[in-house]
Amino acid sequence: MENNVLIFIHLMAAAVAVGSLAYCLLFFLPVMEKLPEQKIPEEHSVAYKALEVLAPSVLGAVLMLIGTGIYYLLTNYTRQVDLAPGYYNLFGVKMVFVIITLFLSVYHTFTLRARIADLDLSPENRKLVPATLKKMKSLGQMILATLTLTSFLGIWLARF
Ligand code: HEM
Repeated sequence: MENNVLIFIHLMAAAVAVGSLAYCLLFFLPVMEKLPEQKIPEEHSVAYKALEVLAPSVLGAVLMLIGTGIYYLLTNYTRQVDLAPGYYNLFGVKMVFVIITLFLSVYHTFTLRARIADLDLSPENRKLVPATLKKMKSLGQMILATLTLTSFLGIWLARF
């Protein structure tokens, strides 16, 4: 029962992270960019508002994945015997992608997002907004790619 709950949370976190990145970067923002341009401050643009919420949400889901993954292994350590040869090779490759995803997501939230946050307190950063939003979109696509690959490796691992 406990395992089912843990894997359920693990899978839900993966679905939220991949789903929100895919929806925002592949469908929502490209459609919004087609709307006629409006003369409003950068911090009121749809891209700013969407990416401001997206970056920490994805980081939260990645932390949840790491937490549930480690907890699953800790509570099942006595069952980690007689595994098919190659199980830990696959696990190692998955962990490399997990670490890459975590670093990218931390940079996304704590460097790029922080650079253009609270513009009323630091208005000099306003000129950084267009370039930073562009970087956040490309980094988000990279996170989407590494997360998709990690999810594939996770599914492979569970059926190895
Ligand atoms: C970006 C991070 C991660 C993603 C996207 C991810 C994704 C997945 C997915 C989709 C599964 C398949 C579950 C199933 O089909 O039943 C899975 C399984 C698994 N994950 Fe993760 N995972 C991540 C991080 C981690 C971490 C950090 C650990 C451990 C330290 C971990 C340990 C496991 C284990 C042990 C399984 C196999 C469970 C079984 O044998 O049934 N995962 N993961």
